[in-house]
Amino acid sequence: MTITDVAKHGGSASAKQLAQYIECACSGVMACSTCHVIVNDKWFDLVGPPDDDEQDMIDLAFKPTPTSRLGCQLVLSQKLDGLLIHLPTHTNNIMDNIPFQN
Ligand code: FES
Repeated sequence: MTITDVAKHGGSASAKQLAQYIECACSGVMACSTCHVIVNDKWFDLVGPPDDDEQDMIDLAFKPTPTSRLGCQLVLSQKLDGLLIHLPTHTNNIMDNIPFQN
């Protein structure tokens, strides 16, 4: 399960709140960077750096940092229990909040 999976499918209040902010427009195929998250400095060594393909997409994200990752590529595990991530400023899930009409 990734951060994107949590935002899209998680049932907790925290997951629903996360979904309000990260869009994940490409559903995890590394084509959008709308799932950009910033891993807290203290956690980054444990999370690990992005691979080259992920880094290429992070470079297109809004205000990337040295600890940026794509939420769709950040696979959660027991060792990351308590992981602290930050969202870039001005992050907003516009796609899921468009009031489509039938
Ligand atoms: Fe599009 Fe992660 S959801 S790059």
